[in-house]
Amino acid sequence: MKLKYLGHSCFVIEGKERVVVDPFIRDNPLSPAKVEEVKADIVAITHGHRDHLGDGIEIAKNNDATLVAIHEIAVYAASKGVKAEGINMGGGVKVGETEIYMVQAWHSSGIDEANYTLSTSPAGLIIKSDATIYHAGDTSLFSDMKLIGELYKPQVALLPIGGRYTMDARQAAMAAEMVGAKISIPMHYNTFDAIKQNPEEFKKLAEERGRKVVILRPGEELELD
Ligand code: NI
Ligand code: MN
Repeated sequence: MKLKYLGHSCFVIEGKERVVVDPFIRDNPLSPAKVEEVKADIVAITHGHRDHLGDGIEIAKNNDATLVAIHEIAVYAASKGVKAEGINMGGGVKVGETEIYMVQAWHSSGIDEANYTLSTSPAGLIIKSDATIYHAGDTSLFSDMKLIGELYKPQVALLPIGGRYTMDARQAAMAAEMVGAKISIPMHYNTFDAIKQNPEEFKKLAEERGRKVVILRPGEELELD
């Protein structure tokens, strides 16, 4: 199974199906891909913010993919003509051979329309393909990450480290320890000035806590066994 990083919080999981998580492509100054090039069977969304829902609706339409998100975002996507599966905290859905479960994230979330915001909860996702991946979404540190680790036993944890809107490097290192995944990968940093962070700092702090860190540059991929 392969995990490819498309910058910010966007990862492509090439396993049983091709899952694209949080495709923020067009407005991402560091994106190595173009929206039209992104191939997907499943588009999974952690929350409604522009840098996560991103180009998800367009990509789902282009590929006739299934969009998986919290109930309210799924209803919104369906209203735009997208095939969508809504889930919620503690639950999940199987699409093809891939299982996706929703876990909590401490953050806010809304979809910005012309003059109002559709408010929904933010989430983290567990994606069970040939390996199990925990995508933490945008979140602060919370101690139930330990529970998420115990429940789903992810091999890989994708953790935000940029600070300001999410955990910083120090908190993310504690998160890596609590989740206990074999590999932790930093995300949600350096896309904008507001979330500048040195991923090596996260690597150092997490490795002091006994967790292995792999830093992927946008466009790089990791082979998982
Ligand atoms: Ni957000
Ligand atoms: Mn974000």
